[in-house]
Formats: sequence, C-alpha cells, structure tokens
Amino acid sequence: MNLNKQVFTTEWTKPISNIEHKLKIALMIAQKAKDGDVIGFGSGSSAYLAVVELGKRVREENLKIKAVPTSHEIRYLCISLGIPITSIDQDRITWGFDGADEVGPNNWLIKGRGGAMLKEKIVMASSPLTYILVDDSKFVDRLGEKYPIPVECLPAATTLVIKELEKLGATEIKLRPAEAKDGPTITENGNFILDVRFNEVTETLERDIKSIVGVVESGLFIDYNIKIIS
Ligand code: A5P
Repeated sequence: MNLNKQVFTTEWTKPISNIEHKLKIALMIAQKAKDGDVIGFGSGSSAYLAVVELGKRVREENLKIKAVPTSHEIRYLCISLGIPITSIDQDRITWGFDGADEVGPNNWLIKGRGGAMLKEKIVMASSPLTYILVDDSKFVDRLGEKYPIPVECLPAATTLVIKELEKLGATEIKLRPAEAKDGPTITENGNFILDVRFNEVTETLERDIKSIVGVVESGLFIDYNIKIIS
C-alpha cells in the first residue's frame, strides 16, 4: 500500500510519558524477534516504540517477521515501516507484545485508554504468550486505582448496559467523549466506550461485564498468558 505521507502521519503525535524507560523496553522486545515469528502487535505508545525498533531490524537486518496489528494506528505504522502484516485467520501467532494502563496484584491488567482493547484482547487470547511492556508508573496496589475500566458496548444497548453495570456495583460510569469530534468516542468497531469505576475488581468481574447483553468487550484482562517486562 502506498501511503500518502502528506495526508497520513504514522508518527506518535502526543507526548510520550517516561519515554527513556519505554525506549529501553522497546529495544529489549525488538531483540526477542526471530526469523519466522508471527507477532501480535499491541497498541499505545509503548507498543508504538517497540514496532519502530522492530521496523529497524526488518530494514537493517532483513529480519523476517509478520505482524498481527491490533489497531489502525499500528497497522498503518507497519505498512509505513515495511513490516509485513497478517491476521489470525492466516497465521498462528508465535508471541505478542502490548502495553497496559494498570498492572495490579496477580498481574491482572486494565487496558484500553486508547480504545483498542477489543482487538488487543482477540490477539492476546490467540497468542501463547504476550509480553506486557510497562514503565514503573503502571504498577498499582489496587486495580482501578488510577484508571476506570473501559467497557465497549453497542450504541443501541448503552442504556441497558449502564443499568446492568450499576447492578454489578459500578460506582461511576461515563460515556467516553471523542477527542477530535463532537459527541462520544466511536471505536474502530463502531461502538461506544463507557469508562466504569468499581470499588473492587474481583476474579469474576471480567466475565460478569462480558455477560451483559450489548457489551462487546472490556479493558479488564484477568489471567491471560502474559509476562511483564519493565
Ligand atoms: C490501547 O487502547 C491501550 O490498551 C494501550 O495498550 C495502553 O493504554 C497502554 O498505552 P501506553 O503504552 O501508551 O501507556
């Protein structure tokens, strides 16, 4: 694909917090890649930096990998860097990497600040191992300490989903507003995001949220095959 560079930017446009630490982790993860690997590429700034480092290895060392991207942003970045793209329909993922917004006790995660948690979860669930790239600011004693849990829902089901989340004990629910348009955020899948706070995250909460009619997925990741890289 020929990207029109004047129209489309694949550069990370917002400031990246803790960039020194994130760069160190990005280099470490890029070194793990071997010829033939099919790698799940997460989204967010930590993943972005890792993709850039992998792109260098593809160009400079002729590293033969394929990427399964989890967002448009990372897919276009791969295209611009010359990293071949595939999907879970075509290839089996060897391993993956992604970022996180919070890492709690037991390595349970909150993800989805950037709204990409649905594809991130599909790719993570398809991968035997996912490295979670996090700087020190991401570790919390109690999951939900800093960030709410994003819940992606079908627009037509929003009122129902809100009622059911309240029954589950949600203490605060906010429809995520869009940044570059009026009205709510619309995900890559055409859905809304509710940012939801709970006093406590229990072992069944991910499943309980998912069982609500109209919920597509949440940013709560409990007991996936992950390894934290910090
Ligand atoms: C994207 O929606 C998220 O799940 C990111 O993976 C998460 O927000 C971590 O992002 P940073 O690496 O930018 O902190």
